[in-house]
Amino acid sequence: MSAHIIDGKAIAQKVLDEVRTAAAALAARGITPGLAVVLVGEDPASQVYVRNKVLRAGEVGIRSLERRLPADASEAEVLALIEALNRDKTVNGILVQLPLPAQIDENKVIQAIRPEKDVDGFHVANVGALQQGLPALTACTPLGCLRLLRETCGDLSGKHAVVVGRSNIVGKPMAALLLQAHCAVTVVHSRTPDAAGLCRLADIVVVAVGRPRMVDGSWLKPGAVVIDVGINRIDENGKSRLVGDVDFESAKEVASAITPVPGGVGPMTIACLMQNTVSATLAQIAAPASDNPSGGKPQTA
Ligand code: GUN
Repeated sequence: MSAHIIDGKAIAQKVLDEVRTAAAALAARGITPGLAVVLVGEDPASQVYVRNKVLRAGEVGIRSLERRLPADASEAEVLALIEALNRDKTVNGILVQLPLPAQIDENKVIQAIRPEKDVDGFHVANVGALQQGLPALTACTPLGCLRLLRETCGDLSGKHAVVVGRSNIVGKPMAALLLQAHCAVTVVHSRTPDAAGLCRLADIVVVAVGRPRMVDGSWLKPGAVVIDVGINRIDENGKSRLVGDVDFESAKEVASAITPVPGGVGPMTIACLMQNTVSATLAQIAAPASDNPSGGKPQTA
């Protein structure tokens, strides 16, 4: 058996088409969603990510503002920029590209973003709201994974999902989303004695550990659906290539469906960022925030 290859590019395009339609409806009311992307320093990978986000925004009718600060910017300078963007009524979403330089406390910066403009879904108000099943802006990568699963499996109710990895950006919000979708959810991580054995019980496996090809076919129940969040650059036979956290070749012989790397989860993350920006804009129109930066409520994803 060889698994169905889940086409992340095509599903991301579907999300982007939905976002374009929603942005056009807003434009007809004289409203253009605005996304501010903050980049501190010159990290080459971050520059590529930011360029792609800005390009994609333009394609779907979202106005983007790029704000760059030098690598030696102080924490106070970054916080002052966030404060200005919080107050700017033309900015509906704020994304601070991570990682930040070492002299800046990443968490302090994230928590300074008004929750209703936190299109990354990293603010504790949004994280807490997600846990309670309340309307929240939700981290883009797990949101993209959930959409891939819904497109592939339909109703997820009653399925057993195993999430491999417990990061704040992917593993934890992924588990919360799957629970909300009525799955039984197990989270395994580096201290779990028999992670492979637990995985073999799963109908759905989502892997986000940052270790190339860690999960192979022997970890999977026949017919499992596999979502691979990893993007790892490795050298193989003198060539550089991208591989996931899943060993695609062996996994695809056991799974019923699997995401490739690249072309699986990757395109979904940016598409869901655009979706969050439009959701944030709609929520802000419905419930305008006061000028008090801490007075905003978390809004619908
Ligand atoms: N750096 C790597 N992943 C992410 C992400 O999802 N959001 C932001 N802001 N920075 C990142």
